[in-house]
Amino acid sequence: MHFDDLQALAIQAVRESGKIQKEWLRKDKRIELKGAINLVTEVDKRCEQRIIEIIKKALPEHNILTEETPMPELPSPYRWIIDPLDGTTNYAHGYPCFCTSIALELEGKIILGAIYDPLLDELFTAQKGKGSFLNSERISVSATDQLTNALICTGFPYDLRESKENNLDHFNHFIMRARAIRRDGSAALDLCYVAAGRFDGFWELKLYPWDVAAGKLLVEEAGGVVTDFYGKTLDVNGKETLATNGKIHEEMIRVLQKGS
Ligand code: IPD
Ligand code: CA
Ligand code: CA
Repeated sequence: MHFDDLQALAIQAVRESGKIQKEWLRKDKRIELKGAINLVTEVDKRCEQRIIEIIKKALPEHNILTEETPMPELPSPYRWIIDPLDGTTNYAHGYPCFCTSIALELEGKIILGAIYDPLLDELFTAQKGKGSFLNSERISVSATDQLTNALICTGFPYDLRESKENNLDHFNHFIMRARAIRRDGSAALDLCYVAAGRFDGFWELKLYPWDVAAGKLLVEEAGGVVTDFYGKTLDVNGKETLATNGKIHEEMIRVLQKGS
């Protein structure tokens, strides 16, 4: 399959997942706890099943890494990385900020990504070397070059009550230096918003590959930079994510180094 066909498949899957999310938003749905504050709803699972079905039907030999269901490892160089519902806490409370995120890796490198916000009907897509798009418009990161003029975003890990690495130190440092901070509750959309220039920067601890894989490519293809808190290229399995327009990256790294 050509990369454009693979992209079309990712788009079909995120759109169908979005349809399920819209349909179920106001319905009564089963909600379970994966941890003290970590939720999963039956909609996460419905979306996941539909996405797996779409990908498996077209490409049964490809690997899949998806948040809610372990999948067997196959000898393929391709791996789909799926967050069927990013922003589950928002979704469960009816707070309108959530999406589906799908990335495709070839030999460990992310080659395409699609993220869909069904309520705003915003489809973010990127292909390696071909730029980032919001619906059919090309997007690029902001030009803000000082943290004091920046709108930045973050999130907090689900183990924040038990772990000292809970981001509160970094939050305290940034709140005194940035123009403002948002905590939207969907890391994949946060990354899209950096790509689209709505946020100038984003940092978070302890994210998973499904939270960041597609968003990382979106930010890079929109001209931004994604690293760990030391400026090293982001490993999607790593514990630290820093994504910016590039211009405030060094300043954000300096602030992060003041933390624990
Ligand atoms: C979560 C969201 C949230 C972030 C959490 C993630 P989920 O994903 O992206 O913004 O702060 O760390 O786990 O659980 O809603 O898919
Ligand atoms: Ca997620
Ligand atoms: Ca999820």
